[in-house]
Amino acid sequence: MKKVGIIGVGEYLPEKILTNADLEKMVETSDEWITTRTGIKERHIAAKTEATSDLATRAAREALKDADLKAEDIDLIIVATVTPDMQLPATACFVQANLGAKKAMCFDVSAACAGFIYAMTVAHQFIARGTCKNALIIGAEKLSSITDWQDRSTCVLFGDGAGAVVLGEVKSGGILSTYLGSDGHLTGLLNVPAGGSRQPFSKEVMEKRQNFIKMEGNEVFKIAVMSMAEAGQIALKKADLKCQDVNWIIPHQANLRIINAVSKRLGFANAQVYLNIEKCGNMSSASTATALVEAVKADKIKKGEVVMLVAFGAGLVWGSVIIKW
Ligand code: ACO
Repeated sequence: MKKVGIIGVGEYLPEKILTNADLEKMVETSDEWITTRTGIKERHIAAKTEATSDLATRAAREALKDADLKAEDIDLIIVATVTPDMQLPATACFVQANLGAKKAMCFDVSAACAGFIYAMTVAHQFIARGTCKNALIIGAEKLSSITDWQDRSTCVLFGDGAGAVVLGEVKSGGILSTYLGSDGHLTGLLNVPAGGSRQPFSKEVMEKRQNFIKMEGNEVFKIAVMSMAEAGQIALKKADLKCQDVNWIIPHQANLRIINAVSKRLGFANAQVYLNIEKCGNMSSASTATALVEAVKADKIKKGEVVMLVAFGAGLVWGSVIIKW
């Protein structure tokens, strides 16, 4: 088995910023409520003309440049997203065409906010076994396209963006362990009810606003804390490490209160937690991806340090990856 690590990173956040003050004019809410309940101050919103693959492509280009690779050097592209450009084909195929990555096999992974961790785990298998050499893993979301801008309980939470990494063989360090879990009995807690095969688009669907995210926030909150803490503990055990051996935790950025509870349960100090929730909100699969990319670009993570990625999302699904730099 080859050692697999991150050899390039990239990010793209759309230009438009929607602040809590802007939201106060759209729904009955307040900056104070949003800040104290979630830790979010603002989020990026993609332009009407920007699709998820456009955000993904911009992040991917930066990651390729950082890895000093050409598009033709990539033999696998996985896009983790719940907001694909179209029902079919895969968003990864649009990214492939945009980049000119002719030699890549391409598919999407649907694991909501844990999508980036799921995609990284899949790519790890391909590279470790020698099936692929260089993989582009992208967490990209245009959540604004499935957000109900009349529902204050959800619309204040979400944003758009994309983070990308190039995974390849490394001589030392790299991915030390991965862990994925899910519970399909909890699909009812967080979903977009219509627009798929169960309930295709119709006038009624649109009138009932069933084509937007519905969430039982309270229930998701409790399970999120438990499942992320457990995922982190299992990944640590698989890597034969203790919390004290980990320098950074990069959690899914859904809610600052969830992040604080998870890092406390795992035994991390606040200074070890990398956050971008205040400026980006919850970008589903793009959250863990962009937070990791930003931490790397800001030179926070030093050679030899150990990073824990941990996330959960609709499904419900959860997972953790431990990487040595
Ligand atoms: N502004 C003002 N008041 C609000 C707002 C708002 N935006 N939203 C809800 N409220 C009100 C509610 O109506 C309620 O009022 P009431 O007491 O009069 O009934 C009150 O605030 C409290 O509502 P709760 O839902 O109990 O608030 P809570 O503290 O649980 O926070 C939140 C809600 C932020 C959604 C939280 O539950 C949460 O973060 N849950 C997890 C979300 C998450 O992580 N989702 C997973 C990923 S998303 C994905 O997969 C795409």
